[in-house]
Parts: sequence; C-alpha cells; structure tokens
Amino acid sequence: MEYPLTKCMRILFLLGMVMIELQSYGSLGCLDDERAGLMNLKDAFDDATGSSALSSWGGGEERDCCKWERVVCDNATKLVSRLSLRYASDFRNLWSLDASLFLPFQELQSLNLAINALTGFEGVLNLSKLEVLDLGVNYLTEIPSLDAMQSLRSLNLRYNKLNNSYRFKELTNLNNLEMLHLGGNDLMEIPSSIWALTSLKALSLENNGLNGLLPLRGKLSKTFDLHSFQNFISV
Ligand SMILES: *[C@@H]1O[C@H](CO)[C@@H](O)[C@H](O)[C@H]1NC(C)=O
Ligand SMILES: *[C@@H]1O[C@H](CO)[C@@H](O)[C@H](O)[C@H]1NC(C)=O
Ligand SMILES: *[C@@H]1O[C@H](CO)[C@@H](O)[C@H](O)[C@H]1NC(C)=O
Repeated sequence: MEYPLTKCMRILFLLGMVMIELQSYGSLGCLDDERAGLMNLKDAFDDATGSSALSSWGGGEERDCCKWERVVCDNATKLVSRLSLRYASDFRNLWSLDASLFLPFQELQSLNLAINALTGFEGVLNLSKLEVLDLGVNYLTEIPSLDAMQSLRSLNLRYNKLNNSYRFKELTNLNNLEMLHLGGNDLMEIPSSIWALTSLKALSLENNGLNGLLPLRGKLSKTFDLHSFQNFISV
C-alpha cells in the first residue's frame, strides 16, 4: 500500500522543483546579455582608468543587475532604461570609450557619462531609444556622431573643449532635440548649425567667449528660452 503514496510524493517533489525553478528564473530580473554588458563596461572603466567606482557590480550575491547601483530597469520589461556612469573614472587619465560596449542596451533612454575625462568614442554610438545623454565635463574637442540617436531630446556637452573651428554638423539631424547645453566651452560665436534645430527649446551657452546680445533668429526666437545653468535639466 506504500506505492501510491511514494508516487504521489514524487510528483509533489517534482512540482516543487518546477516552482523553485520558475521562481528563481523570475527573480533573476535582468537579461544575461545586459548583465554581461555591464560587466564589460565595468572592465573597460577599470582598465582605462584604474577606478573602482563600479566595483560593486557583480561582486555580491545579487544576480539581478536591475538592483545594482547606477542601473535602473524598466519595471515591466526588466531591460536597462537608465545608466549613470557619472564620475566612474578617476578623472586623471584621458581616454576614449568603445561605443560598441553600449550595444546590449537597446532600450536605454538615459545615459550619463559626465565627469570621466573622455576625449571621445571609438566607433559610433547607436542607441535608437536614447532621450537623454550627458557628456558634460569631459575633454571632447568634437561632438561624437549622433545620427543613429533620433530620439535624443536632451544633450549636455557643458565644460568640454569645443571651439568654433569645429562645425557642429553632427547636431543638425537631431530633429527631436529640445535641450542643448554648451556652457563652459571655448565658443567665440554661436555655431550656425544650431539654428537648424527646429525642436530646440532651451540652449545654454554661459561661460564661453560670447560677448553682447545673442542674435535670436527666425523661427527659433519665438520658443527660445536661454536657460541659465541652474535651469537646465540634466539627468
Ligand atoms: C518602478 O518600481 C519602483 C519600485 O517599486 C517604483 O518606485 C517606481 O515608481 C516604478 N516606476 C514606474 C515607472 O512604474
Ligand atoms: C544602429 O543599429 C540598428 C539596429 O539596431 C541598425 O539597423 C542601424 O543600421 C545602426 N545604425 C548605425 C548608424 O550604425
Ligand atoms: C580648437 O580646437 C582644436 C582641437 O582641439 C585645436 O586644434 C585648435 O587649436 C582650437 N582652436 C582655437 C582657436 O582654440
């Protein structure tokens, strides 16, 4: 008479195992690809700058990278939607970042790379959902190619090394750009390609070599609001 009971227990045991599997699958949260992508980013920052700012990533028991510092995932999809790598280098070594490291993060909406002593990117940044990009306080002498980032609404380039020998053509295709921060560069005049940005609502130009009144032209002058540093919305 013992046999049916054993069989029953075996089925219950198997059911239990399936439920544990399902539960741990759910609690993993972020995708393997994105977790691996974050670890590759951490290595790139470590190798280039010797910084330990990202040392908590992957260090503990927490496999769900959505719970890591500096990472925010979409609640529904569990895909990384915001990434803050602000001041993740030691800011002593100038370096350039491999743009392909961001390929795993196709749902990224906000990326903060401020204060990293970056001179630019190797390759082309291709993040079609990105809306907010902060590259402030770096060593950029030119704007990286942003053509693949048609969703971009806010671009922060404050305190870089941009001057007027650079033509700013990389900006002209950003049809959704609403906010552009160019304060603290070496601009002696307003780059003319800025007037082609028809969605622009706020432009910040403080602490450049600009003198006198800013010539607000055409269409833009109606909606234009020359924000001060404090009013500029950052990540
Ligand atoms: C996502 O979840 C967190 C924590 O439960 C919550 O604070 C946040 O408001 C949620 N975000 C959205 C967009 O629903
Ligand atoms: C960006 O990536 C998409 C696929 O995600 C691809 O179709 C497109 O050609 C890429 N653009 C550039 C400029 O590399
Ligand atoms: C503008 O920047 C470029 C690149 O850094 C530099 O070579 C050039 O000397 C600068 N021009 C002026 C007028 O500062």
